[in-house]
Amino acid sequence: MRVFVAGATGAIGRQLVPRLVAAGHEVHGMTRSEAKQAMLSELGAVPVLADALDPDQVADAVGRARPDVIVHQLTAIGALDMRHFDRDFALTNRLRTEGTDHMLSAGHAVGVRRFVAQSAIYGFYARTGGAVKSEEDPLDPSPPRESREALAAIRHLEDAVLGAQWTQGIVLRYGAFYGPGTTMAPGKEQFELVRRRKFPLVGDGGGVWSFIHVADAAEATVAAVEQGSPGIYNIVDDDPAPVAEWLPALAQELGAKKPMRVPRFVGRLFGGETGAVFMTEIRGASNGKAKRELAWRPAHRSWRQGFAAA
Ligand SMILES: NC(=O)c1ccc[n+]([C@@H]2O[C@H](COP(=O)([O-])OP(=O)(O)OC[C@H]3O[C@@H](n4cnc5c(N)ncnc54)[C@H](OP(=O)(O)O)[C@@H]3O)[C@@H](O)[C@H]2O)c1
Repeated sequence: MRVFVAGATGAIGRQLVPRLVAAGHEVHGMTRSEAKQAMLSELGAVPVLADALDPDQVADAVGRARPDVIVHQLTAIGALDMRHFDRDFALTNRLRTEGTDHMLSAGHAVGVRRFVAQSAIYGFYARTGGAVKSEEDPLDPSPPRESREALAAIRHLEDAVLGAQWTQGIVLRYGAFYGPGTTMAPGKEQFELVRRRKFPLVGDGGGVWSFIHVADAAEATVAAVEQGSPGIYNIVDDDPAPVAEWLPALAQELGAKKPMRVPRFVGRLFGGETGAVFMTEIRGASNGKAKRELAWRPAHRSWRQGFAAA
């Protein structure tokens, strides 16, 4: 198939493009940057220059490529201060609202058969009931104030993709990425915060995180390009775990001292309500549906071994 990847140069895109090429697809990879075109060629893609926030550029790029499938992996996360979540996610939020709309219109114009888009599990499921959520479970009806726009933007993306009756809309709710190209890799921001004891264990550390190695996320995405009925899939590993479990384990893996413990109100001062919620209340996700319907299994079944291999 001809597959158009928006976000082809990013952490997930760089893992995804070569896998799609190896599976025999003709890949068109989008970037804003002339300088990154060579990288895309090396990965085996036809480079396409366009800004996702410019509807004419997107329509033109997709119109030329005439893909069978579009994969939307656009984000612009950069440095993140949890106290100002929506401020720091402003561009990502636009990519998930306007960017999604532009990609969908362009895809509609050429009649793409399938549209696969990046969503996320973190902070998304309701913070009530069981620790591990499936795709049918309700979403958080009252997210913390400073991350409301970010969650609204993800909901916009999901509703727009699933509501597109003219195509097969697939939403991939990825867990927290780790591995090459992400901030959770040796020497990178998140691992360094843990190694330097600047990532404290807040409150009871009862927030449950689901991780996914970025290579496994890419494998699941190839599967979703090729098969699976329209709908939502959690793409996470087999081992959702509370912060109180994974954070000390990661510190040990990195040869660091045990993380500092701080009460919730101190965590809230430094990480805002969103940070405190992530550390104490969020829920993990199950990958049963993706395993069943996408015939996919994460090679890194648990972050326990995965962090060491990152
Ligand atoms: N589930 C998760 O845990 C999750 C999800 C997303 C990101 N992250 C993490 O967040 C960190 C940073 O990610 P990131 O979002 O900065 O980016 P990234 O992984 O570098 O990828 C962003 C992609 O979006 C493209 N893009 C952004 N704005 C665009 C625009 N206006 N037009 C066209 N393309 C555009 C970029 O293309 P060009 O720059 O080439 O134009 C790039 O291909 C990474 O560690 C990543 O793993 C984690």
